[in-house]
Formats: sequence, C-alpha cells, structure tokens
Amino acid sequence: MKQVEFTEFGRPEDVVSVVCGQSPDIEDGQIAVKMLAAPINPADINFIEGTYGVKPSLPAVPGIEGVGCVEDSRAEGFQIGDKVIFLERVGTWRELIICDASSAMVVDNHVNVEQAAMLKVNPMTALCLLQNYVDLKPGDWVIQNAANSGVGQSVIQIAKILGLRTINLVRRAELIPQLYELGADKVFLDDSESKAELSEFCTIARPTLVCNAIGGDSSIRLMNTLVEKGVHVTYGAMSRRPVTIPNKYLIFRQIRFEGLWITKWLEDTPRNEVESSYRKLANWIESGKLEQSVDSAYQLEHVVQALERAQQPNRSGKVLICM
Ligand SMILES: NC(=O)c1ccc[n+]([C@@H]2O[C@H](COP(=O)([O-])OP(=O)(O)OC[C@H]3O[C@@H](n4cnc5c(N)ncnc54)[C@H](OP(=O)(O)O)[C@@H]3O)[C@@H](O)[C@H]2O)c1
Repeated sequence: MKQVEFTEFGRPEDVVSVVCGQSPDIEDGQIAVKMLAAPINPADINFIEGTYGVKPSLPAVPGIEGVGCVEDSRAEGFQIGDKVIFLERVGTWRELIICDASSAMVVDNHVNVEQAAMLKVNPMTALCLLQNYVDLKPGDWVIQNAANSGVGQSVIQIAKILGLRTINLVRRAELIPQLYELGADKVFLDDSESKAELSEFCTIARPTLVCNAIGGDSSIRLMNTLVEKGVHVTYGAMSRRPVTIPNKYLIFRQIRFEGLWITKWLEDTPRNEVESSYRKLANWIESGKLEQSVDSAYQLEHVVQALERAQQPNRSGKVLICM
C-alpha cells in the first residue's frame, strides 16, 4: 500500500516521499477505502511546510480531501462500491484508507471522480462565503479576488445559481474571457492601474460582500468598493501578506471584518446540515452547474512533479493526484 509521507516540515518537493505503508485490519464501525483521486490544495502545501492552522505529528500523510471507493465495510450505511469523500482529516494521498465511518460521507456514484475529489473544500467554502455572512438577495453584488481559483470559480457559479452578481479580480488578463464564459458578471485586473475603473463601476454596482483570498494591497482594493457596513471576509492569504485596514474603513465606513476556515465550520456545524449542503453541491455538479477546472493529473508515484506543477503560477486549474 503506497502512500505519500513527510518526516520533517519544509519545501514540499524536498520533504515528501512515496513509501510503502502498513494497512491495519478493519474494525467495527470502520470502512476500507481504495483511493481514486485527491487534489493538491494550497492548504496541503502549507500543511507540509508547517505553516497551516494545524500542525501534525510526524511522520504524516498529506491530503486534506479526496474521493475513494469503499472496498470493505464494517459500518452501517456504507456498502462495498460506494463512492465516499472525507469530512475529517485522514491523509488522502495514499492508495488505501482505513478510517472510522464517521469521517466519511457517501456521495452519489454519478458524480464525476475528479469533481468529487475536489468537493469537500472549495465548493463548500464558496457556499459558506455566500450564505453565512450577509443576507444576500437576488441581484446583490459580491466582489472577490483570485477569481480564477477553485474557490473563485465556485463563487462565480454558485452566485449565478443563487441569482447574485459577481465582480471578479484576477492577476492575468488572459483569464478574463474564460471567467465571463463561466458566468462572471464583471471582471477586472487586480492591479493599481485598474483601481479607478473598478471604483467607477462600483459606484453603480456596490458590493455588500468581499471574498478575500489574497491579502495585502488586493484586500484593500476590495474593501474600498464595499457599501457602508459591508462585510469583508478573508479566507485565504495567497500573497502571504497581512490584511491591513486603513482606519477610514473601520470608522467612517463601518466595514465588518470576518474570517472563514472551512475546517472550523465543519467541526461546528450539525452533521445533517453538513451532509445536506454537500448533497446540494453534488447535485449542482451532477447537473453541470458547478465545476472546478483541472490543470493536470499525476500518478501518486510522481507526487514531486505534481507538487512542482501545483506551485507554478499560470496554472489553469487544480493539479490532481490519481491512485
Ligand atoms: N479558509 C478556508 O477554509 C479555505 C478553503 C479553501 C481555500 N482556501 C484558501 O483560498 C485560497 C485559494 O484556494 P484555491 O484552492 O481556490 O486556489 P487555487 O485553485 O490553487 O488557485 C490559487 C489562486 O491564487 C492565485 N495566486 C497564487 N499565488 C499568488 C500570489 N502570490 N499573489 C496573488 N495571487 C496568487 C492564483 O493566481 P494565478 O492563477 O494567476 O497564479 C490563483 O488565482 C488559498 O489561499 C487557500 O488556502 C481557504
């Protein structure tokens, strides 16, 4: 049973290796899952670097999410052949996972493997951003940066389903037509040259919600567009720069600043609500309304090349590891 492992924190390409792991016997209440695919998310990179919100004891197997097929079950509600995703951290970059059934959830077998592998994190983050902070009504405007990211693409598509309108910032001009095709209502370049044009547009289309995945100057550009008492939610820090808040946004504009971590939301939310939200997302995927793009797929043995690709700029979607 092959698995990816790291024994020290550091640059992912330097510290991971593929090793043969032991597979323990399956016990009552557990399932054995043959893994099919798992994406490389920025959180996985940070997890291996040791800069993520949780630090594992070492050695550790990375992989925040993924999809597999039940190979053996000693738990009610799980049949051999069921497709499952994992709601808790089990370390998905391995061929076989034996875990408590409570860590997993069955998804409809019709959901495409690649999309199911990426269902847990980004689509749910997008849904939480759009549903949990502002009482948005159809026609309302939402603004986001990193709009071509997995979360960004999901925000655009879920907003469309909910009748909301999106203003989207990206750092590459070539992405603009693709995002309009995906359903974006407006797309701008995320740079200081485009700030005046963005501000002018937002005098008519005033967003009530900011979804910030970058921090630094980009997050300030976003807060400048918000309505008075609007909400600015930070869920990512791709620039690795802090969100600094000019005083005027706190005092005169009364902007509310929030943070979202989907791991915490999963811990704090009743299981039936979590499962029904995932079923809703899976239905949208199945009906072709929600999709994250895939840049490339690598076999587990080639995890180092996969990690190199995942950290390159100008990707056109997620990098997947296939088992
Ligand atoms: N809080 C949570 O629960 C939660 C959940 C999901 C994701 N996240 C976070 O959300 C962010 C996006 O995740 P994802 O999986 O959707 O990302 P992704 O699909 O891997 O895309 C990464 C995005 O970040 C941009 N980017 C990369 N480096 C950057 C830099 N130095 N400055 C500005 N932009 C940069 C990329 O732009 P280019 O394409 O132009 O390179 C792309 O838009 C990450 O920070 C991730 O950790 C948080």
